[in-house]
Amino acid sequence: MNGIDFDRFRLRRFLQTLREAGQLEVQDGPLDLVDIAAVLEGNGMAVLFQKVGPEGWDLAGNVAASRQRLALAFGTTVDGLVPEVQRRLGLVPEIVEVSRAQAPVQQIVLTGDEADLTTLPVHLQHGLDGGLYISSSTDFTVDPATGRTNIGMRRLMLRGRRETGIDLVAPSDLRAIYEACVRLGERLPLSFVVGSHPIDHVASTMRFAGDELELLASLRAAPLPVVKCITNDVRVPADSEWVIEGYLDERGWVEAEGPYGEFLGYYGIVKQNPVFHVTAITRRHDAVFQTSTIGGYHLDCTDTAQLGSLRTEVTLRRALEVAVREVTAVHATTSSGGSFNVRVALRQRVPGEARNAIAAVFASLVNVKHVFVVDPDIDVFSDAQMDWALATRFQADRDLVVQSGFRAMPLDPSLVGAATTAKAGFDLTLPFGSAGQTLDTLVPEPPRFDSSRFPSVDVALADGPKTFEALMAALGSRDGREVVLILEALRSAGRLTRDLDGRYMLDRA
Ligand SMILES: Cc1cc2nc3c(=O)[nH]c(=O)nc-3n(C[C@H](O)[C@H](O)[C@H](O)COP(=O)(O)O)c2cc1C
Repeated sequence: MNGIDFDRFRLRRFLQTLREAGQLEVQDGPLDLVDIAAVLEGNGMAVLFQKVGPEGWDLAGNVAASRQRLALAFGTTVDGLVPEVQRRLGLVPEIVEVSRAQAPVQQIVLTGDEADLTTLPVHLQHGLDGGLYISSSTDFTVDPATGRTNIGMRRLMLRGRRETGIDLVAPSDLRAIYEACVRLGERLPLSFVVGSHPIDHVASTMRFAGDELELLASLRAAPLPVVKCITNDVRVPADSEWVIEGYLDERGWVEAEGPYGEFLGYYGIVKQNPVFHVTAITRRHDAVFQTSTIGGYHLDCTDTAQLGSLRTEVTLRRALEVAVREVTAVHATTSSGGSFNVRVALRQRVPGEARNAIAAVFASLVNVKHVFVVDPDIDVFSDAQMDWALATRFQADRDLVVQSGFRAMPLDPSLVGAATTAKAGFDLTLPFGSAGQTLDTLVPEPPRFDSSRFPSVDVALADGPKTFEALMAALGSRDGREVVLILEALRSAGRLTRDLDGRYMLDRA
């Protein structure tokens, strides 16, 4: 059928990949919905719950919540992930519209009273959440002004069988599209996919000016099968697990939504938000429902921080390649939610580039608050090496850049109500041109013994000053103590001296 493999990018197939890679925990006993959150909290593994709730649904959690699993999704290594995403962003997208009969996600269609959210495996994620939330919901809508499809991830708070709240407060393309509808007094048709390959989640967390179905197809690096929904004209990936169709009503931001455990690790307060109305639910015969981890003490192993971190790194790479040329690595720490603390390693060509990098990062992403710039020898994924660079390459009165009055992320509790935020840049690079110039800026490493061979220490020293390592290499010594004895004899004979770097020299005086 159109030569399309409808299983290649389905969530259930990816779970199998994770199982083979030892990245999946399977909970095969019956489990109540109330127990799901505790199993997922701080769990480094993806989890497949089989037989959830009285209906016995399959539910997957934490699927994208590690860099290793995201790398597996893109068929690459952890180190290769960002370059692979960048490569795919440049691919020409192919979208194939398939019929409803072909689309696996429409194998079962429920409309009217049968489309009932309270029959789905939706669980309470955090103790003070305002209700049960669908957290792995990817929204698809068509912008009436441009005809382009917009996608994003937005949580849904169940308000009944066919109504949910949706969090649409933060600036986003969907918010702008919906604001225009509200101004015209019109509804906005919207469909949510639940149960997706991580690539689809990566695509939905990126902000892209064009048609985001094309973005999704490019990132998959394969033809994207789409199908029109049953009760609206929105097109969604035909190989998804579940789709919840409906619309946002024309009343705007009118109903209380929240609180909810948010991606910065704290609760977000109750907000006035729009209402989503369900018109149909469709799914595969053997559909897997999905939940995404968000807030709490273990941000580093949540879906949100991992997806956010990848998005931040890809976005900043592009901005930095324009601002300063030789960026060697970028990392947005997942423990800061994937966006607040960013590390950049670069090779400075001229003095001042570390500060240019700081300024470029400040400007290119709203959420970034702290930027740490290091020399290329520092591993930006190593907390220990970053701490060492802060301790030894940073002078607070010289290398700290603080600016205020930036657009803020309101969920940040350190704002205590302020409308704008401060940002800080930490230049952790050694003073320009100083690295490796003197011994006290050189980093000790195990000896390599790769200097030239000589017939004797005398001949080696006649060639010029030598380090102890070079003298061992000169003799092919596998020990070193015999070199000490030769040097002792030379010193006793008044023939040995040392230069300021401690290298041995023949004393010609
Ligand atoms: C699991 C997950 C849940 C998210 N939930 C929300 C949400 O409820 N509201 C929101 O504004 N953004 C949320 N986001 C972030 C948006 O999906 C993201 O900013 C997206 O790029 C917005 O898309 P758009 O600007 O194309 O509309 C979520 C992200 C993830 C990874």
